[in-house]
Amino acid sequence: MQIGLIGCGNMARALARGWGRPLLCADPIAERARALAAEVRGEALASNAEVAARADLVILCHKPAQLAAVAAEVGPGTTPVASILAVTPLAALREAYPGRPVYRFIPSLPVEVRQGAVVQAAGPGIVVGGTAEDAQPGELDAAVAGLFAELGTLVVLDDALVDVAMGLMSCAPAYVALVAEAQVDAGVRRGIPAAQGAELVVQTLAGTAELLRRRGYDTMAVRREVSSPGGLTARGVDALERAGLRRAFSDALDAVLEPAYPR
Ligand SMILES: NC(=O)c1ccc[n+]([C@@H]2O[C@H](COP(=O)([O-])OP(=O)(O)OC[C@H]3O[C@@H](n4cnc5c(N)ncnc54)[C@H](OP(=O)(O)O)[C@@H]3O)[C@@H](O)[C@H]2O)c1
Repeated sequence: MQIGLIGCGNMARALARGWGRPLLCADPIAERARALAAEVRGEALASNAEVAARADLVILCHKPAQLAAVAAEVGPGTTPVASILAVTPLAALREAYPGRPVYRFIPSLPVEVRQGAVVQAAGPGIVVGGTAEDAQPGELDAAVAGLFAELGTLVVLDDALVDVAMGLMSCAPAYVALVAEAQVDAGVRRGIPAAQGAELVVQTLAGTAELLRRRGYDTMAVRREVSSPGGLTARGVDALERAGLRRAFSDALDAVLEPAYPR
């Protein structure tokens, strides 16, 4: 399936690197499209319309506010469109691209290393709560979902929950990087050189993620294994709770959703 990217910014680059196959690219800054195309041995095209004419699947990687303008440039046709635009529900995509099969995904930056979380909005043949394997999709649905499933774990959610999920997984690389940085700095304060502290913290993040997967995502199980009663880790966890860790993440999600979904 020939993929065509409209917009060659940060997330388009992560997707392209994750797929690692030649893609068609267009961007208002021609050099940006050329650089990405060169990296994946693809082709930079002069316009969004050309991408839509030559691709088997168009992936919208521009900003949400550009939906109508890009759809007008692309024009009518039947080539399927997959969007990764935040705060842009399926209904808005269908309105912008009438007559085309339309899909909605939200990826996260680790798709670049094929360890991303990707959310797909449910639709006919694409079941909520399932993975690509659970669904009974048509041929095109399966091919499109399979493409995104190559990039990590694909989770299907109700369209109304996709932006909430975005606030968890798509913002999370920044949160996790900040958490790692805070831990490294705490170590630096107690004499651990930053480089060694970073190695220790980042490897612990990666290893803990794998453990959590093997324990069926049971966070409490992993915490109990590390926190003996009256022990040192329990003291550390208590300090984090008292400092408002849970509240901070809850507030962060509200802050992300607030502009589009005010309470
Ligand atoms: N970054 C993430 O972690 C993430 C995660 C999930 C979803 N998303 C979604 O992914 C999309 C892209 O985000 P991003 O972070 O990659 O943004 P970005 O780095 O700003 O990339 C957007 C690209 O689209 C280009 N563009 C602007 N107008 C265009 C047009 N008319 N036709 C074609 N391309 C156009 C931009 O060019 P200019 O810079 O010249 O305007 C830019 O190169 C957004 O809709 C966002 O909601 C992002």
